Amino acid sequence: MQKGELLYKGKAKSVYKTTDADRYIMLYRNDTSAFDGQKLAQLDRKGKVNNHFNAFIMQQLATAGIATHFEKLLNDTESLVKRLEMIPVECVVRNVAAGSLVRRLGVSEGMELNPPTFEFFLKNDALHDPMINDYHILAFKWASADEIQQMKTLTFKVNTLLKAMFAKAGMVLVDYKLEFGRYRGQVLLGDEFSPDGCRVWDAQSGEKLDKDRFRQDLGNVIEAYEEVARRLGVPLP
Ligand code: TMP
Repeated sequence: MQKGELLYKGKAKSVYKTTDADRYIMLYRNDTSAFDGQKLAQLDRKGKVNNHFNAFIMQQLATAGIATHFEKLLNDTESLVKRLEMIPVECVVRNVAAGSLVRRLGVSEGMELNPPTFEFFLKNDALHDPMINDYHILAFKWASADEIQQMKTLTFKVNTLLKAMFAKAGMVLVDYKLEFGRYRGQVLLGDEFSPDGCRVWDAQSGEKLDKDRFRQDLGNVIEAYEEVARRLGVPLP
């Protein structure tokens, strides 16, 4: 299996073909983006931290019975994944109010959400990832009713597992975003799970340990990612 041509360059990762038609290589770059690409920076070590972080989480999820595209770490910044046909929606679960929910509904940041909420967003930077619902997904044929149900079930299953894992390590998993794709008729978890796509607060102090440090210019962004990794037991190089 050899690395082939660049297929797609996203805001933080690049995807390469391989000599195996069913496998891609994901390269995690140091590029950091927020507000749909309006704020950009290079953050030292981010690529390797997120690559190792994602590998650890995906392996934990696989052990718990959640099928993912992750196959193996290739080196500090690259992982081998299954080639998915991506479903162009983002699945967001929130345990605590923050971010766009606070802005949209005027609720207080930090309010516990019981039950946790689920939202779909259309993956489209030009349109600023608008919120959509099941009817839009069906009408525009972005996914079938069965796939919608599977995405919801899997996203909540991830919540049960990760909320407990973060709590045990002294952190609150506030919210996160997942993306799914199709592989041989199955819906698999794709993309990544890292502090770039979730909110994590210290359980005691409420200190933000995720990409909000970048969005809000709080400093020590990657140091916070590394702290989350260290507490979860993610082996970093
Ligand atoms: P939001 O509060 O901006 O809607 O984001 C909710 C969570 O989902 C937060 O952890 C960030 C993550 N997210 C992404 O990583 N990328 C996205 O494009 C969106 C809309 C959310």
